[in-house]
Amino acid sequence: MNNIMSWSAEDEATIATNTDATECKRCAVELGYWKDEYIAYFAKHVDRKAPEINRGYYARVKAMEMFIHQFLERCGTKCQIINLGCGFETLYWRLKDTTQAVSNFIELDFPSVTNKKCHIIKRNKQLLEKICKEDGEVVIRSGDLHADGYHLLGCDLRSVSSVRRALAAAGAQPDAPTLLLAECVLVYLRAEPARALLRHLAEAFSRCVLLVYEQCNLGDKFGEVMLRSLGARGVAPPDERHAAPPAAQAAALREVGFDTARAWDMETVWRALPEEDRARAEALEMLDERELLLQLNTHYALCVATRGDLFADMDLNA
Ligand SMILES: C[S@@+](CC[C@H](N)C(=O)[O-])C[C@H]1O[C@@H](n2cnc3c(N)ncnc32)[C@H](O)[C@@H]1O
Repeated sequence: MNNIMSWSAEDEATIATNTDATECKRCAVELGYWKDEYIAYFAKHVDRKAPEINRGYYARVKAMEMFIHQFLERCGTKCQIINLGCGFETLYWRLKDTTQAVSNFIELDFPSVTNKKCHIIKRNKQLLEKICKEDGEVVIRSGDLHADGYHLLGCDLRSVSSVRRALAAAGAQPDAPTLLLAECVLVYLRAEPARALLRHLAEAFSRCVLLVYEQCNLGDKFGEVMLRSLGARGVAPPDERHAAPPAAQAAALREVGFDTARAWDMETVWRALPEEDRARAEALEMLDERELLLQLNTHYALCVATRGDLFADMDLNA
């Protein structure tokens, strides 16, 4: 598939957002916001980002982590994680270094991203050795990587059949407890393909949690500025979904088949983080533009949607 599909200028612009996310994460890691021994393999040189960007990324990573741990607390490690639009995320390796490595970890992105990720993994022993089990083998075929418990595959999230094929090739189990991650990804899909993807996932996995992190409340002046800057990059513009407040985004997830869905803007999430974590992050850099951080935080949301009784009580303060 990888060789016969062609990608538009808009797709190339979308793909480039991964470089940005990876560089921002590396910058925040270097400044001590959180630990990630692996991010430097994926972003070689980074310029220092503004403090409000670093702080925003810290909140994003901590918030995802908080719910990943709630998921693992409820179902243990006999489960699967499916990272949609994974980019160069390092979660697989970070979990491997804890007692929380899961049975199957599946990463999906455009083939050009998974191809590059494959090459970086192949070239770096520290990444590769975490993927190889003792007598296991790692198969790299047409830019996809398959190992026992880790699968990295190229696909187009706008096509349910492409996603279905990729998940089948990765050995995804419909009945296994499943964590679906969509960190700054669905915003690059237009409304209808995004809905179709979510409807498919809600149908396919009877016991699952979906974490979605992306823009919200874009209908105001600040939102207009964000939209203009996204437009200037050439990516598909966010639509009415992103003008909506977090509660409406949660309602949309219930409409496509999730049993429960809750959502909070990132200011609410930030305030719910442990006091000592916030104080530590705040001490790392001076922040002159407090107002700007507040604006940013109120224009991003985290949604948590679930299927199955096991996960129904997942909450910000659970
Ligand atoms: C902003 S990056 C986020 C990467 C990662 N989730 C993170 O938070 O670090 C968005 C990612 O979504 C991927 N993506 C967007 N639309 C996609 C599509 N239709 N099919 C596959 N991947 C897609 C991009 O290639 C990119 O890697």
